[in-house]
Amino acid sequence: MPALVSSRRAAELKPTAVNSILAEVRKLRAQGANLVSLMRGEPDFRTPANIIEAANRALGEGRTGYPDNRGEPALREAVASRTGYDPSSEILITTGATFGIYAALMALIDAGDEVLLPDPIYDAYQSPIRLAGGVIRCVPSSIAQDRFRLDPDELEAACTPRTKVLLLNTPWNPTGAVLTRQELEAIGGIVCRRKLALLSDEIYESIVYNGHRHVSPAALSPELRARTIVLNSFSKTYAMTGWRVGYCCAPAAITQAMFLVLQQSSRGPATFVQDAAAEALRGPQDCVEQMRLEYARRRAAVCERLAAFNGCRVIAPEGGFFAMLDIRALGRPSNDVRRHLLEHAGVVVVHGAAYGPAGEGTLRVSFASGGDTLAQGLERLRRGLE
Ligand SMILES: Cc1ncc(COP(=O)(O)O)c(C=O)c1O
Repeated sequence: MPALVSSRRAAELKPTAVNSILAEVRKLRAQGANLVSLMRGEPDFRTPANIIEAANRALGEGRTGYPDNRGEPALREAVASRTGYDPSSEILITTGATFGIYAALMALIDAGDEVLLPDPIYDAYQSPIRLAGGVIRCVPSSIAQDRFRLDPDELEAACTPRTKVLLLNTPWNPTGAVLTRQELEAIGGIVCRRKLALLSDEIYESIVYNGHRHVSPAALSPELRARTIVLNSFSKTYAMTGWRVGYCCAPAAITQAMFLVLQQSSRGPATFVQDAAAEALRGPQDCVEQMRLEYARRRAAVCERLAAFNGCRVIAPEGGFFAMLDIRALGRPSNDVRRHLLEHAGVVVVHGAAYGPAGEGTLRVSFASGGDTLAQGLERLRRGLE
């Protein structure tokens, strides 16, 4: 019998670097390898108790029917009181930021439209751009004064008449940079001049260090707000990765288009999950600050342990829970170094090149997990690189 053949569209899709490395990790573990992972962006905190209680309460009250496809009104109201967007027309509740990214791209992109992607960047943006028929144009960033920087001139130079969207992530995975107001103003100027849409993924907004502040481009001017789709999620801020709930804020017309995409696919997170998410926003916020402080302690440990050795040095993150280790001095492809660390030092990290060519010469080290995992992982990393 002839084998089923997938569509050309599906053939364009690739697993993320984390998923590919996870497959390697499972294989090695099945052979008995003892591995410590500093790979994933998965907080090791439990979801705060008040949020779990809200979900239990909702289940007890029979909140198990179909949700409002735009998002339950109480949750949209809670998002509105945080963001200032109109709950009836400018807010959409999504199955994590992942679905928000997909819905936004499907709502914006026609076949052949170009999407500007800073390089290096979270690699899971690529497949939904391809699914939507978009063409990726990478805009290389570079390391200057201990920080990844996106040059507005490079951004402008990458624009063509087919450019439709710029995707930004601040705080920026994997680089750890938090874009400043000044940087965002320069980028926003290009967005407005070139009449682009700006997809702004802000899921690490609450995790910033040393006085760095998250600025949403949508807050910079009414003109930029009208061109921006803000993507956000409960995954990182409230340690709710498995709950699969997030939200988008955007002008009404594009929110409506995204809503239609959502109605034809996920139809939104479970009703009781949305009740729990509303509690996350409305309830006490000290859990967010406590987690941020713990990430700050872990960041300090990473920076201290990996400060400088063997020509390698850590680029201290301004936000998020990833640190980039600059290994250019080793003169080896980052994927070779990653494999060496996996097979000979028993520690799992992601090679910077997985996030784009400008990530070559770096390794992404996650401190989403702390405690013994982090301590042992850093020890193995250092020994493996030495
Ligand atoms: C930049 C970025 N955006 C989106 C996501 C996915 O978020 P969610 O769990 O809300 O789908 C991640 C997860 O690691 C991420 O790093």
